[in-house]
Amino acid sequence: MQMRQSDVIVIGSGMAGLVAALSLAPMRVTLLTKTDGLPGGSSNWAQGGIAAAIDPADDPAEHAADTVAAGAGLTDPEMASLLASEGARRLTRWINRGLPFDRETSGRLCLGREAAHGAARVLHAGGDATGRTLMADLSARVDAADHVTVQTRAFAWELVTGRHGMAGVLAHHDTDGWVFHRAGFVLLACGGIGQLYRHTTNPAEATGDGLALAARAGADLADLEFVQFHPTALAAHSRTGQVPLLTEALRGAGAHLLDEHGDRFMLKAHPLAELAPRDVVAKTIGARIAAGLPVHIDLRALWADGGAAKFPTVAGICAAARLDPAETPIPVAPAAHYHMGGVVTDADGRTSIPGLFAAGEVACTGVHGANRLASNSLLEALVFAERAAEAILATKPPPPGPVALPDIPRHFVPPAQAALVAVQAADIMAESVGLLRDGIGLSCAIAELEALEAGLEADAGGAGPAHIRLSGEVRNRLLASLLITRSALSRQESRGAHQRSDWPDSRPEWRHRQRVTLSGPAQP
Ligand code: SIN
Repeated sequence: MQMRQSDVIVIGSGMAGLVAALSLAPMRVTLLTKTDGLPGGSSNWAQGGIAAAIDPADDPAEHAADTVAAGAGLTDPEMASLLASEGARRLTRWINRGLPFDRETSGRLCLGREAAHGAARVLHAGGDATGRTLMADLSARVDAADHVTVQTRAFAWELVTGRHGMAGVLAHHDTDGWVFHRAGFVLLACGGIGQLYRHTTNPAEATGDGLALAARAGADLADLEFVQFHPTALAAHSRTGQVPLLTEALRGAGAHLLDEHGDRFMLKAHPLAELAPRDVVAKTIGARIAAGLPVHIDLRALWADGGAAKFPTVAGICAAARLDPAETPIPVAPAAHYHMGGVVTDADGRTSIPGLFAAGEVACTGVHGANRLASNSLLEALVFAERAAEAILATKPPPPGPVALPDIPRHFVPPAQAALVAVQAADIMAESVGLLRDGIGLSCAIAELEALEAGLEADAGGAGPAHIRLSGEVRNRLLASLLITRSALSRQESRGAHQRSDWPDSRPEWRHRQRVTLSGPAQP
């Protein structure tokens, strides 16, 4: 096993990972990503944009108020206020540094509207290719940064702790085998859990690795039961689990949702109709689809008004599916999209383990409560990755000392079994831990997931990099799925993205965050 020393290890190559790595200069940063290159993660797939109250007519206090209102009683108001006020300031600094956003011919930044925002405050880039455009820019900056060493195809297997807290990361590299990356600081930025479900807008890498790594290391997690389903993914089959997103900005620009009769059913469901908070729209669509009723998004008026040029990503998705939005409404269905829960952090990204920081989707700052407001995720990644980097820069590194070398894993789940179990677990999550849950379904899901975990076989020796990654991912998937499901069973109420048919109301005694460790949820 090789040993390499850095000041900070960043795990993950989405928005939070790249922004943190850039902001950590002049510390020596090693960025580990299991993907083939930069960028990775869900940020690259973001369409709508990044919310920030930068318009002089807007007010960060109103952005914070919208964030709190969407969070169904669980958003931490101080965190929301910090996100909105610092978000506007920090994003403006990035714009001044050249981060490219769409502008009107006057030079004014284009601002879109999205669900549950009281003002048009969503900046976008490349039309609806916001993630791709921003992440290409940030990736080029990271590639050019002397203080960052990027290790692609490097799978983080275990967080290693020592006497003073973090001691490093054991990773398997496709090219170099097992490497112990020593560092007194580790920043988890490895995104979410969408791939734990049958259908998700997230890419293949979103397998819950960050949750599993942190839980095994003993970190506190919270709010794991709150999984956000995006209301309008294209209703399509997918071999990888990833289904194309039809951005919320379409509804912000006037697109309507239609039932089987061509009527706007959201008018009856919520005063804000198609622009109701995301959990409400997803729940309403999900109930119709569960009853066998199709739902479509009608883009015809938008397309007649030049929508294809404003939404090139959506136009490409529809063309690939041989659907013409100018002619026919497009079938949609909810898909797992974002995890509000995660590794508990303070406002500076500190977790419960000294030296371990987290930022972006893997973190749980409390800013999203039980339901994230649209386009707050990229902003959260940017604000809290910068804050975590600033906190690390200001922290005295732990004294160097002897650290026991981690054991090299010798046994791996056979690839065929790992692939099968991943599908079986995703089916269980979709059936019993989706938009609508109940106690019996959740209990059965726990038993089934535990049985899958207990049934994992272990091959000895001869494992190649793909086999090792699959084996690590399936362990992580099962652990993250179990932690989410146990949290969902424990929360006996419905709130935001966590809806239970056997506990249909929000209950005042549950208006608090639910902490979780490896051994399960803390009792309320
Ligand atoms: C979208 O474009 O609809 C996704 C934006 C988000 O999840 O915040």
